[in-house]
Amino acid sequence: MRALTWHGKHDVRVETVDDPKILRPRDIIIKVTSTAICGSDLHIYDSFIPSMLPGDILGHEFMGEVVEIGSGGSKDLKIGDRVVVPFNIACGNCRPCTTGQFSGCDNSNPADKADLSEVAYGHAVSGIFGYSHMTGGYAGGQAEYVRVPYSDVGPMKVPEGLSDEQVLFLSDIFPTGWMAAENCMIEAGDTVAVWGCGPVGQFAIRSAFLQGAAKVIAIDHHANRLALAAQAGAEVLNYHDVKVREALMEMTGGRGPDSCIDAVGMESHGFSPDNVIDAAKAAVRLATDRTHVLREVIMACRKGGHVSVPGVYGGITDKFPVGAFMEKGITMKTGQTHTQKYMTKLLGMVVEGKIDPTFVISHRLPLEQAAEGYKMFKDQQDEVTKVVLKTDWKEAA
Ligand SMILES: NC(=O)c1ccc[n+]([C@@H]2O[C@H](COP(=O)([O-])OP(=O)(O)OC[C@H]3O[C@@H](n4cnc5c(N)ncnc54)[C@H](O)[C@@H]3O)[C@@H](O)[C@H]2O)c1
Ligand SMILES: [Zn+2]
Ligand SMILES: [Zn+2]
Repeated sequence: MRALTWHGKHDVRVETVDDPKILRPRDIIIKVTSTAICGSDLHIYDSFIPSMLPGDILGHEFMGEVVEIGSGGSKDLKIGDRVVVPFNIACGNCRPCTTGQFSGCDNSNPADKADLSEVAYGHAVSGIFGYSHMTGGYAGGQAEYVRVPYSDVGPMKVPEGLSDEQVLFLSDIFPTGWMAAENCMIEAGDTVAVWGCGPVGQFAIRSAFLQGAAKVIAIDHHANRLALAAQAGAEVLNYHDVKVREALMEMTGGRGPDSCIDAVGMESHGFSPDNVIDAAKAAVRLATDRTHVLREVIMACRKGGHVSVPGVYGGITDKFPVGAFMEKGITMKTGQTHTQKYMTKLLGMVVEGKIDPTFVISHRLPLEQAAEGYKMFKDQQDEVTKVVLKTDWKEAA
């Protein structure tokens, strides 16, 4: 089959690789129809995620048609069903899974891989498709076919009449934006500030309104992304034009936002002194993440407010404003999204027309051009909001 493989920093290629096989009774194989490139994929593209090996297949946002089912069967799936697959892999049986903490699954990261995250994070993290050997070394879905483990837990059947593009983002960015807003514990009248107007930020903005925020303030520097945020009703700040914390204080009567969402993560842009120092240290491998936004959200958040961090971080940081965090009594919630917990509810909102997730798509490409898709998404963020890759381009065109 054809698949997008990683070979090093800014080197991804569509190659012919072996087809996936059923390995466990609960596995299914799906023929991918649509798959998307995520900001999290850019962290791999930029070589910030350790434990990638040349030839690893990328991609964790995908959907398709069931073509093979393992001997254990699969609850209610049959050959030919259309499914959308959550990006994180979860067994459904362990304590984290049974309490809805799917991204904390104890079983989906195989023992021979789990050591890596146990050393880095103190505990083994769950498996994720196409996201390094630290998260299980699973082949990803930017491919013609993909093996999906625990198929009775993750994949969700797509109801008749919905297009791929209407449901594809239930695999990650819609639940991620939703959980980011939920972690803000929004109360009527609240102001929520969202750093980063990429796909995750866009869904966080819309989710915050759907969860009752009175005002959402969106921060980025790409005019088109800010315009898309404004279309959802957000007030926008270009961090090149204003001092973000001061502007937020002015817009909230001197209190600061009730909640602050970091939808940027480890690759913050900008030339603030802390960010420049982080970047220089990361360049010579003295540090890992650029945590400017994490510092800024804590400094900007009102006393007693909530900080929500969907943005991905991977290593260790310094210059962390621990005093502001403690003295202001801030609650911080974060994590890889518990996607499985939200898919059915959010599908319902798509069906009811409360949100049309296709708003975020700016580009569609054949899988064969996936490498160009990565380059565009990385280099032209103003024009490129979200790239969807199609395996059967003729059909899609
Ligand atoms: N928690 C999860 O489960 C989960 C799931 C998906 C994505 N993510 C993470 O969410 C983050 C965003 O993903 P995305 O797909 O939207 O990525 P993206 O790269 O498209 O968007 C990031 C945006 O942040 C903006 N930005 C950079 N520096 C900024 C700053 N200093 N202030 C304000 N904005 C700034 C960029 O201009 C860009 O528009 C990434 O870290 C990604 O890994 C997490
Ligand atoms: Zn993603
Ligand atoms: Zn589990």
